[in-house]
Amino acid sequence: KIVKSTTDFIKMKEKQEKIVMITAYDYPAAKFSEEAGVDMILVGDSLGMVVLGYDSTMPVTVEDMIHHSKAVRRGAKDTFIVVDMPFGSYHGDVNETLKTAVKMMQETGANALKVEGAGEVLEVIKKLTNAGIPVVAHLGLQPQQSGVLGGYKVQGKTAEQAEQLLKEAKEVEAAGACAVVLECIPHQLTEAVTTQLTIPTIGIGAGPEADGQVLVFHDLLRFGNHHIPKFVESFAFVGDEVERGIKAYTKAVKCNAFPTLQHSFTMKEEELLQIYG
Ligand code: KIV
Ligand code: NA
Repeated sequence: KIVKSTTDFIKMKEKQEKIVMITAYDYPAAKFSEEAGVDMILVGDSLGMVVLGYDSTMPVTVEDMIHHSKAVRRGAKDTFIVVDMPFGSYHGDVNETLKTAVKMMQETGANALKVEGAGEVLEVIKKLTNAGIPVVAHLGLQPQQSGVLGGYKVQGKTAEQAEQLLKEAKEVEAAGACAVVLECIPHQLTEAVTTQLTIPTIGIGAGPEADGQVLVFHDLLRFGNHHIPKFVESFAFVGDEVERGIKAYTKAVKCNAFPTLQHSFTMKEEELLQIYG
């Protein structure tokens, strides 16, 4: 098996073959995802919310991203891995950003990095791409902006906002982005962006017209008790199984049903005699 490349994803778009992306934050999730045949894995900064228990993605650090991405790479050696640059790591001096990006690529073995937004982020997309780092853009709802936006809301609903987003999509493509995630926008806008760009669009809460789809691992599997957005479909109920299993274990230990001698190791009779005579 060979890791797919950014040009493979453009070919998939041309052939209208859907691109499947899922987030993963650790070794087993990455391994399950690769074995299921997903096309791309995103080590999203959503890890702050679904596995680290923060209220937003803001507290997530570059070191957190590197730590989790290394585990994901160990679990998915043959899959294209995209890693999020976390909050605050790409809005300063662009040369500093490049240093951070190079460190993230080298230490994790990722195939691409993802940054949210256009505007001043266009310079970052250009700089990293010119340095040989594939960049995935992220437009529409940008969770790292939730403090400024006042929450997590659908974006691009008015004609003006939609035109702005379409303009930004063209700008991130021109800046060199290899793909663009579109989060929480009306499906008609997704269709417009998708038909007007050469690079693939990957939707989340963005309707069926995108070239690909991404969902958060813990959301689509119902794993955890975090808030799940309404656009998510439940493909399994892992949380229920985990709850059932841990309760059963607790009960079994409390009432001496586990462990039994079947789960134990036994010393030979003659060895015992040497101790107790
Ligand atoms: O962090 C993340 O999981 C993401 C996806 C929702 C696109 O950025
Ligand atoms: Na993210």
